[in-house]
Amino acid sequence: MEEDSGESGVVFYDVGQHDKLMSLCLQEASADVDLDNLSLIRKNINPVCIKENSFKVQTSSALNAVEKIIGNITFLQNSGLKTGIVLNRSKVSENSRHTNKEGEILGIGINSPIIIVKDQITGEINAQKTIMLARFDGDQIMAWYHLQEKDLAPELYAFKMVEDRVVMNMEIMKGKTLQHVLDKITLNSDQAIGLSICVLDGLLSAYECLRQKGYSHSDMHAGNVMITPKLNIKVFDFDAAKKFLQNSQKLKEDILEIIRMFCALYSGDNLTSRDIANQILEERSLETFSSKLRSQLTQAQRQELFKILMMLFDSVAFPEQENYGDTADVSNYVKKNMPGDEMKKQIAVLLFPEDFQFKEVADCGTGSKRMRTDFTSVWEDPSMEDYVLNVTDQKLNELQHFVLAC
Ligand SMILES: Nc1ncnc2c1ncn2[C@@H]1O[C@H](COP(=O)(O)OP(=O)(O)O)[C@@H](O)[C@H]1O
Ligand SMILES: [Mg+2]
Repeated sequence: MEEDSGESGVVFYDVGQHDKLMSLCLQEASADVDLDNLSLIRKNINPVCIKENSFKVQTSSALNAVEKIIGNITFLQNSGLKTGIVLNRSKVSENSRHTNKEGEILGIGINSPIIIVKDQITGEINAQKTIMLARFDGDQIMAWYHLQEKDLAPELYAFKMVEDRVVMNMEIMKGKTLQHVLDKITLNSDQAIGLSICVLDGLLSAYECLRQKGYSHSDMHAGNVMITPKLNIKVFDFDAAKKFLQNSQKLKEDILEIIRMFCALYSGDNLTSRDIANQILEERSLETFSSKLRSQLTQAQRQELFKILMMLFDSVAFPEQENYGDTADVSNYVKKNMPGDEMKKQIAVLLFPEDFQFKEVADCGTGSKRMRTDFTSVWEDPSMEDYVLNVTDQKLNELQHFVLAC
């Protein structure tokens, strides 16, 4: 047994060396921890780490083990024992007391900041989020797990219970939050509409992935959506995610928030609140919608926006309807209207000036040299095309930056 009685008091055991424990962890997800097993946990396995290798051989899916550990954490919430799981050992070592703060903050969380930490054994940095144990709910992890499998959420590397908290370690996402884009970036109408289509496509993929697994995100807003330099999206912050019963109101809430985000990007107007969006769309009248929309859009653009919003709204209009919450039709429609590569690159130049707004200038001695231009000058610059040339596949793949939340 690898044991580390470090000062943090977080102790991981290597399950790979404990067959009995391994089989316990790999039980069917639906099985509750029974009393025999629980006593085994109390004696021997506090907390638990699953080794990746044995994991692959011995379980049909990592999901079972994740569900098992959630069961344990939930059961042990009041017992003072600690438990946890490492899902990606190349990023986080089981002995995570060696993980040190680097002092950088990715965002101000409601309960505690999301910090950058470094695992001293793997040498990898990751984003660490901490929530109160009392607010922990396995649904959060399950919803997250389903979405990360489709690359629509940051990868969850590990989570563990430490005293009265649950600490989660995850991939640091590259990109900017949708909130940042809405607040700080100026796009012309075509670009804004192009981006809104990309974002809606991503949001619907995430929403559908969760819905089909029976979860709602329940805290969909622009601060919980990351736009990557390739204009894909990742949804995060699963603190409120919930397993739902059939035709849940929660799905409608997610859709209304998606409507608000899409409308804000498309038109600059976020419809004020979920309730107001609901009221406006319940009237089903383009005139009412248009009169409430504080935006410069043309009539044709208003019609198009309204059409998409109504398609979304219709998917959750009546709890008793067949295919309640199913957004496949909207999704197909949106996919047909996706902007072309050239437009996407223009948008990337404006969203990520620090990566793409530079020029190659000749340097007599050493060949070409990179020069950064002032971010704000792009509009004065007659050759936006020059910047677009900087948006290459190679550059997109190489990007290493992430942007701190503001
Ligand atoms: N994995 C991550 N990579 C990069 N930034 C992140 C990551 N997780 C969170 N952030 C940043 O931290 C902010 C707060 O994170 P979030 O999980 O939404 O916390 P809260 O539950 O307090 O809202 C986000 O808006 C985002 O800017
Ligand atoms: Mg949040």
